[in-house]
Amino acid sequence: MKLQLLRFMKLVLFLLIGSLLQGCSQKKQEPEYLIGFSQCIGSDLWRKTMLEEINMELSLHPGAKLIYADANGDSKTQVAQVKRMLEQGINLLIISPNEAQPLTPVVEETYHKGIPVIIIDRKTSSNAYTAYVGADNYQIGKMAGQYVGAALEGKGNIIEIMGLPGSSPAIERQRGFTEGLKKFNNIKISHQLYGDWLKSKAKSQMLKVQSSLSTVDAIFAHNDVMASGAKQVLKQVKVNRPIKVFGIDALPGSGGGLQMVTDKVLDASLLYPTGGKEAIVTAFKILNKEAFNKETSLPSLVIDSSNVQLMKLQWNKISSQYKDIERQQALLEEQDTLFNNQQVVLNITVTTLVLAVVFGGLAFYSLQENRKINKRLEAKNVEILNQRNQLIELSAKAERATEAKLNFFTNISHEFRTPLTLILSPLEDLMQNEKLKSIAGRNLNHIHKNVFRLLRLINQLITYRKIEIEKMTIHAAPNNLIEFIKDIMDSFQHSARKLNIDLRLITKEQNLMVWFDANLLDKVFFNLLSNAFKFTTTNGIIHVTVKKEQDAIYIEVKDNGMGMTDDEAAHVFEHFYQVDTNATKGSGLGLSLSKEIMLLHHGHIAVNSKKGHGTAFSLKLLTGNEHFDADEKTYSTTDKKELYETAKIYTSELDGPLEKDRLPSPIKLQEKSILIVEDNLDLLNYLSDKLSEHYEVFTANTGTDGLDAAYEQVPDLIISDVVMPGLSGKELTEKLKSDIRTSHIPVILLTARGSMEQQIQGLESMADAYLVKPFQADHLLASINNLLKNRVLLKAHYISDVSSSSKLPISKTLDKKFINDFAGIVEENLANENFSVDDICKSIGVSRVQLYRKVKALLDCSITDYILSRRLKKARYLLINENYTISEITYMVGFSTPNYFSTVFKAKFDCTPSEFKKNHHA
Ligand code: FRU
Repeated sequence: MKLQLLRFMKLVLFLLIGSLLQGCSQKKQEPEYLIGFSQCIGSDLWRKTMLEEINMELSLHPGAKLIYADANGDSKTQVAQVKRMLEQGINLLIISPNEAQPLTPVVEETYHKGIPVIIIDRKTSSNAYTAYVGADNYQIGKMAGQYVGAALEGKGNIIEIMGLPGSSPAIERQRGFTEGLKKFNNIKISHQLYGDWLKSKAKSQMLKVQSSLSTVDAIFAHNDVMASGAKQVLKQVKVNRPIKVFGIDALPGSGGGLQMVTDKVLDASLLYPTGGKEAIVTAFKILNKEAFNKETSLPSLVIDSSNVQLMKLQWNKISSQYKDIERQQALLEEQDTLFNNQQVVLNITVTTLVLAVVFGGLAFYSLQENRKINKRLEAKNVEILNQRNQLIELSAKAERATEAKLNFFTNISHEFRTPLTLILSPLEDLMQNEKLKSIAGRNLNHIHKNVFRLLRLINQLITYRKIEIEKMTIHAAPNNLIEFIKDIMDSFQHSARKLNIDLRLITKEQNLMVWFDANLLDKVFFNLLSNAFKFTTTNGIIHVTVKKEQDAIYIEVKDNGMGMTDDEAAHVFEHFYQVDTNATKGSGLGLSLSKEIMLLHHGHIAVNSKKGHGTAFSLKLLTGNEHFDADEKTYSTTDKKELYETAKIYTSELDGPLEKDRLPSPIKLQEKSILIVEDNLDLLNYLSDKLSEHYEVFTANTGTDGLDAAYEQVPDLIISDVVMPGLSGKELTEKLKSDIRTSHIPVILLTARGSMEQQIQGLESMADAYLVKPFQADHLLASINNLLKNRVLLKAHYISDVSSSSKLPISKTLDKKFINDFAGIVEENLANENFSVDDICKSIGVSRVQLYRKVKALLDCSITDYILSRRLKKARYLLINENYTISEITYMVGFSTPNYFSTVFKAKFDCTPSEFKKNHHA
């Protein structure tokens, strides 16, 4: 939504800026043109008037720009100036060429470049131009000739003062003048002078012919300027006869021809319009691609005393109109600027207003959004607060519940101690009794060891609770650490000898007095040592090193046992953490308790372990006693009796009989075999002892070994623990049940975890039964019997009719498949007298033992018995239903001779085949 608004904003801004810019540039309708105006000479009045007209007309075209250059009467300069104009990129050239010939090439070049050229007043000597604007000089000359001839009444002498030689008006006017005078035979042009359009030159030329002036009746100059010069010379030389003076241009204004006619300086002047205005009109027609006249011929007339006033009047009127126009234009321009400024201001105001509205809207929208977000946040906050409070309440409840549970647990632990002690002492009495020892020695040992195990767990739990909850205070006192450690290690010597473990104390110290609580610190050492023993194999090493340094004692308990991974080592001091692979070997409390005890001593415990290489626990105890508070320094000595008790608690477990030490039980041949898979050696031995009375027992203490043993032995039943290192009981069952070699074997799963979920999981794994520890031996035996009996019941079905096995309640599809395959192979080979067990093994893909055991288990007969029974059944069928001879049938059911067939048949059915056939056909 916000994004859309931003986009909209951008659009509004864009449009506003666009309209603002458009507002500023609205006046420019016509494209901008660069017009070059090359003037041959700009200083005289006529040319000034021409420029004024041009500018006046141009003011109506604000887009156009004029580049003006004055050649000051020099043709070369003019050529150069035109070239510069071309470089500047003019769109059109207006030129009044100084002389025709010299300016022709540059005008042609311009024209051929595609730049329009307007020739004004004077001409070049070529036709390569776009348009010409100017009066017809020939006609003017002719008009002058006719007028002068008439004024002289047909006779007299005339001096003609011509313009610049080579300039077109001079040439054409001269030609026209001569033509105009043609009909006046008594009129003669006595002198032709070149005044070059200039007053000074005209005067100097006149002076040269002053001697002839007494015969002259009129002077005709090609322009008014030169005519006025001639008049001055006439005055100067004081000619005593009336000489008429005529000129061309008839410019208005002071110094102009009109004024000179009025003042009688001139007798007459011919109007020669500048054409400035017309040139610009033509220029814009060309530029705007409109129709235009190639030749614009401007009108002319003679102005003399008869019409000069009228002309002046008209001119004044025109002039005042021009001035009006000029004023209006100036006013317009002012208004225009004002309008433009106002438009800009208006645009800015509108833009600002629109922006203000848009931004205001945006701000309002954002405000609303913010309010909504704030409201949502507030609601979330309240929700989070409520949840937090609920969590706090819940965790407080949970804490209280845990606390209550732990208290209950601790109390119960206390309660356990008395009955355990009450079990222990009579038990130890019983163990002294030699008679009992021989009968139940091993069982008594089991009981003894496990009573201590329970005691140890209970003691650890109680101590841990004391430290953790009751903030147990330490009773530190100076003790001989070396003696203390030696005492503890002595308790393990017996186990060390039995396991051939190199248990050694390595130290330079003899007597090392250290402040510690002997009744607490012993638990640390017992824990570390019993741990080391649990994880160190026979012939291993357990070394305890004690070193004294400046202000601390460093003790290390190091073994070369199985070690831990980094991850296991990182968690080893957390309570109830157990290293995965040794799940059965610790309670998960001992090391955590040791850490707490070391902290009470202001000391430190750390572990360094490497999988497969061993473990080292290092302890640090401070020397001196400054680190203990006064109330921590309460005198206490090692309670030897307690130490002994503790030692028994920690070492009794290690003293159990080793598998290899056990006497081999008398070999008794049993009909059925059982495989026990259990990682707890005590339980394994116990179960093995119990079951070997009734069954042949195989054992394995990992899931993987169990699986191998199952394939190899193909037992009649398998008992397996569920939680085991490596392959779990559940996984083991799944593997067994999905393998044709073992799929028929009933499996009982045992576990200490009694949750319903676990039991369901166990059953899902296709186990046939699930027993929860602790179980009673009788219950286990009953379960085993039951499962084996069920197998026997099934066999009846398998044997009765193999072909209908699909209707049987066989849940195990693999077993069904096996029976089908097996029966199929036998049926196919009934006629084959060389058919052997090996043939079946090969086609099913099992070993002889596996096949034998599987057939025995499922069909309760030997393979050969089964084949024989199928042969005889088929023979019986053939005897009844088909017309084969006895000897034919003999071979059809795979017997080598009819005699042998007959003997076997009789043994089974109590009559010979021929007797049987006779009886059934009778
Ligand atoms: C001005 C002028 C005019 C004359 C014209 C001819 O320079 O001399 O007096 O009529 O040029 O080109």
